Order: sequence, then structure tokens, then C-alpha cells
Amino acid sequence: MAEVISPMDVDECDDDDPSLRSNKGKGVVAGGVPPDNRDTPWVEKYRPQSLDDVAAHRDIVDTIDRLTSENRLPHLLLYGPPGTGKTSTILAVARKLYGNQFHNMILELNASDDRGIDVVRQQIQDFASTQSFSFGAKSYVKLVLLDEADAMTKDAQFALRRVIEKYTKNTRFALICNHVNKIIPALQSRCTRFRFTPLDSVYVTERLKHVVEAERLDVTNSGLTALVRLSNGDMRKALNILQSTHMASPQITEEAVYLCTGNPLPKDIEQISYWLLNESFATSFIRISEMKTRKGFALVDIIREVTLFVFKIKMPSDVRVQLINDLSDLEYRLSFGCNDKLQLGSLIASFTRARSALVAAAK
Ligand SMILES: Nc1ncnc2c1ncn2[C@@H]1O[C@H](COP(=O)(O)OP(=O)(O)O)[C@@H](O)[C@H]1O
Ligand SMILES: [Mg+2]
Repeated sequence: MAEVISPMDVDECDDDDPSLRSNKGKGVVAGGVPPDNRDTPWVEKYRPQSLDDVAAHRDIVDTIDRLTSENRLPHLLLYGPPGTGKTSTILAVARKLYGNQFHNMILELNASDDRGIDVVRQQIQDFASTQSFSFGAKSYVKLVLLDEADAMTKDAQFALRRVIEKYTKNTRFALICNHVNKIIPALQSRCTRFRFTPLDSVYVTERLKHVVEAERLDVTNSGLTALVRLSNGDMRKALNILQSTHMASPQITEEAVYLCTGNPLPKDIEQISYWLLNESFATSFIRISEMKTRKGFALVDIIREVTLFVFKIKMPSDVRVQLINDLSDLEYRLSFGCNDKLQLGSLIASFTRARSALVAAAK
């Protein structure tokens, strides 16, 4: 699997070079096998080590794998929502290309590093250009990994465009981002783009089962389903919830998972929806407020789940349209931090209106 290349030029390891020093420190965290420590976050402990370990995205991973094997790696642009394996894929490529020389051959910069135009001009250029002296004769290329590239300034991106072109002979750039439209078109066109979609629940389940087995956890079937549901295809989220639930309770049940994340249980949502659809305004308000306080729910979580419930129940489409529209307005307002009590009143008011419309439609 991993190819090991001959020891490299000692000049490359010069500790006086700040770019390489920071790179080395990070490599240990991101790429190396973490020590088996109880406190190691599982997202790091179970980060795929090789391309074969990366779940889902088989077509993308196979393509990248083939290009890597044939030493024809293009500049890459991986984009998609968080926790879908973008960083892991690139780190696995680096491991495959460089084996234990991994830390010297890759410059990893993420959003926590300063990546203004100066860094592009200095650090990246330094890293990219040194290779031409020590590796000129070899076919091995270095890798510059720009994680969360959408957080880079426009100026830095423009500067990078030129750097990419200049060092294409011996350096490959891998850009990773969530929002591809924040990358300037000139950079996009220099890279081969791969879109990472949220993981299918089948893969999330499979990967979670692997961790459950390795950690010898006690997880019920409904607990596993709850984890998959709450993760929404974000594997990092799934593992984080699994770990925090494990710390909070010995057995990982549906209830424990929802309790740990503070999300309302499906049966709570059913109860709330029942009140919204059947009780008077005042009673609904009192009951929902009471449950909200007792169980510590956030109104936006309730609204999100109630919306899914509205999709499921039978009602004339014009009533549903109005209701969904109201709910989306509510969510929008809550994102600005409006008063929870007033918005709860508005939620109940929307349902009251929908109920009147239902009654009118039935006549
Ligand atoms: N496709 C995947 N297969 C297996 N594990 C994954 C996958 N995607 C994400 N993970 C898990 O989630 C964690 C975060 O993944 P990462 O590659 O950093 O996501 P991204 O860079 O897309 O936000 C990894 O450590 C790994 O444990
Ligand atoms: Mg990432």
C-alpha cells in the first residue's frame, strides 16, 4: 500500500524554517496515528488511514486512488458539507504517496493559520520552490493542502492562482472547502473538482458499528438509528455524539442520545404536535412552555422537527404551504435571536390559523 521513498535531503528538515516547523507539528495531530489515549477524540482515533477506509464516495476515491497510483495527480478541489471525508481523503492520499516521509512532503494550512496574501507569497512559495533543488530529478511531487480554503481572502486566492501555475511541475495543490462558490473561478478552473455529498445513512451506520465494536460499547438499535438520524450524513457529528453520549451514560439508547444533544425526542414532538393541532391557544402555550423549560429544548429544534411532522400528516396542500411558510419565517426570525416566548406564540398562532383553514375546507 503506502510507498516508502528514500530519505530526503536534510536541508528540507531544517528546523529554522518556520513553515516546515508548523507543518510538522500539525502533521502529528492530523495525519499520524494518534496515541491510544482515553481522551483522544474518536473523530481523530477513527479517521480513515487509507483510501480504502474512506466510506462512501467510492467513485471519487477510486478516481483519486488511480491518479495517485499512476503519479498523475492533478490539483484538487474537494468541496461539500462538513464531516464527509474531504480532509481524510487528502491525508490518505499523502500517506499513500509519501509513506513515512509524510510530514516533510506536505504543507498543511487550515483556517486557524494566517492565510493572507503574505502567507501565500512567503510560506507556500518557500515550500513549493525548495523542492526544485532537492527533488528536481525525482517524479515525486509535494503537496500543499489548503483546508477550509473558502475562508481565504480574495487577494490571497488571486495570489495563489499565480503560485499554482508557477510550481505545477513539482507541487500539487489540494483545496478543501464547504462552499465552492467562495473560491474564485480562476482557481476552480485550475483544479479538478470533486463534490462530497452527505454520507448515506447506510455508510454512517456501518462506520458507527465499526467504532461501537472497537470500543465495545453497549448500543441499542434505536440508539444507533437516533445517532444516524441526528448526524444528517455528517460523520464527524455522528462520532462526536456517540462519544459524548458514551461519557454521559453507560448504555447508548435513543433517549440517551437525544438527551445528550438536547434534541426533542420523536415522542415529545408528537405530543407537541398533538397540542398544536387540538388544544386551545392558551393550553398549548402553557403546556409547550412547561415542557420546553423542563426538558431544556430550544424552540428552533422544536420547529425543525415539527416541520418534518407537518410534511407527514395529511392536509390540503394550500393549508400545508401556508403553514410551512410560517414555520420557515419563524426559523428565520429565531436565527436573529428573537424572543422565544413571542415566537412560540407565533408558532401556535400559525397552527391556529391552519386549523381554521382546515375547518373551512371541510365545510
Ligand atoms: N467518508 C468517510 N469515511 C469514514 N470516516 C469518515 C468519512 N467522512 C468523515 N469521517 C469521519 O469524520 C471525521 C472528520 O472527517 P473529515 O475528513 O475531517 O471531514 P471533512 O474534511 O469533510 O469535514 C474523520 O475523522 C472520520 O472519523
Ligand atoms: Mg476538513
